[in-house]
Amino acid sequence: MTDYSNLIQPDSGQAATEIEIISKEGFADWFSSQPGPVRAAASAQKFDGSVGDFAILHIPGSEDWKAALIVSDAAKLEHWSLAKAAEALPEGTYRLKGAETGDALLGWLLGQYRFDEYRSEPKLKGARILLTSEPGRIENAVSQAEATALVRDMVNRPPIDLGPQELEADAARLAKAHKGKLHVTKGHDLQTGYPLIHAVGMAASRDYAPRLIELEWGDERHPRVAIVGKGVVFDSGGLDIKSAVGMRLMKKDMGGAAHALALADLIMKAHLPVRLHLLVAAVENCVSGGALRPGDIVKSRAGIHVEIDNTDAEGRLILADALAKAVEDKAGLIVNFATLTGAARVALGPDLPALFANDDELADALLAAGKDVADPLWRLPLWKPYADMLDSDIADTANAGGGFAGAITAALFMQKFVPDEVRWAHLDTFAWRPTAKAGRPKGGEALGLRAVYRYLSQAYPVR
Ligand code: BES
Ligand code: MN
Ligand code: ZN
Repeated sequence: MTDYSNLIQPDSGQAATEIEIISKEGFADWFSSQPGPVRAAASAQKFDGSVGDFAILHIPGSEDWKAALIVSDAAKLEHWSLAKAAEALPEGTYRLKGAETGDALLGWLLGQYRFDEYRSEPKLKGARILLTSEPGRIENAVSQAEATALVRDMVNRPPIDLGPQELEADAARLAKAHKGKLHVTKGHDLQTGYPLIHAVGMAASRDYAPRLIELEWGDERHPRVAIVGKGVVFDSGGLDIKSAVGMRLMKKDMGGAAHALALADLIMKAHLPVRLHLLVAAVENCVSGGALRPGDIVKSRAGIHVEIDNTDAEGRLILADALAKAVEDKAGLIVNFATLTGAARVALGPDLPALFANDDELADALLAAGKDVADPLWRLPLWKPYADMLDSDIADTANAGGGFAGAITAALFMQKFVPDEVRWAHLDTFAWRPTAKAGRPKGGEALGLRAVYRYLSQAYPVR
């Protein structure tokens, strides 16, 4: 993984190449103040005043060059303002002229993210270092970039190299680094305590044995916060098998687990005053003789009998048992991340995680936090009147049904496992970027991670 910790350094006047930041508003004045050869070079590079325009220009009267970049407002750079520059510039050390680095530190770092594990030659070589006069912001920017890169790497890694066992190893690494306590319930041992995780996961080969991975950390007297992640390392759909097109990206179905692990890492790194309970339900949703069948009925950990209407609605099943455990252990707040439904994507597209919450204040605070850190969420309702779409003819509930409002019914199913007194937020996230944007290549993506971390760091400030 890229080492982000050196890519931003405090400015102590060291030699650096300048990146001149020009507001869109100020472009005309800037342009007319430049000498002719600079104007000519700017025009030749189509550096003509649109936000995002970027050029390499000669510094008159010297042997040197500088970069120039047009932004919407130099007084407040946005998170991704510098991302394109960070990929386009050659290796070296840089300093902004005309702007503070501000929120743009994140984009500087993530503009240098690459997933190179399966390439013989790395695509991006060397390091582009940015100097900042706000050294107090370096640590947070680096942690956020590292957490984002962790999610991207995990999601991008193929299931042949990332099974339940590797999710466990990642959790173990975090437990070790932060002196947390790891507890794993695995394979047949899931049958009594976690019947739904067992039922979904037991069709997999022994190397991909299902498990519930728990990590506990922090002072027991602090408020109990549970972070829950869907870790389906590959979702074939099970016996209700997906089409080739529908299955193609399903290595990313552990995206929720990746978000949960990265968020736990951020919480522990920052020493937020919470008692953290991380729960990752890790399975492969397979087709085999032992596979769960449509029509099977499984009694969940919470005692609710679930009729399997569709084996492809597996995420909510494994999360139901994990949520039940979080509730038993007296969580005051539960946040779960899951690549749960195609319906959430149809409704909101790839960029916006659907937020469901059983508490309006919690929802509003999460939405506001997302706006603050350019990691937007969009709330969908836990619309009670649709609950009957999940009715089963013979059991307490079905795991799917209705055909309408798929993201909402999935959330309503999970809500059956969370009592109203426990504040609960569920993020139905895509964990994937289908087309590249500055600092955000196509592939695995953290969506909702920075928003939730921002919320938690405000709700549980370090004193
Ligand atoms: N992992 C999928 C959801 C998914 C699909 C997320 C495509 C992002 C893109 C989930 O397990 C699933 O298959 N959900 C089904 C539920 C249905 C069978 C009720 C879906 O959304 O189609
Ligand atoms: Mn599925
Ligand atoms: Zn799935």
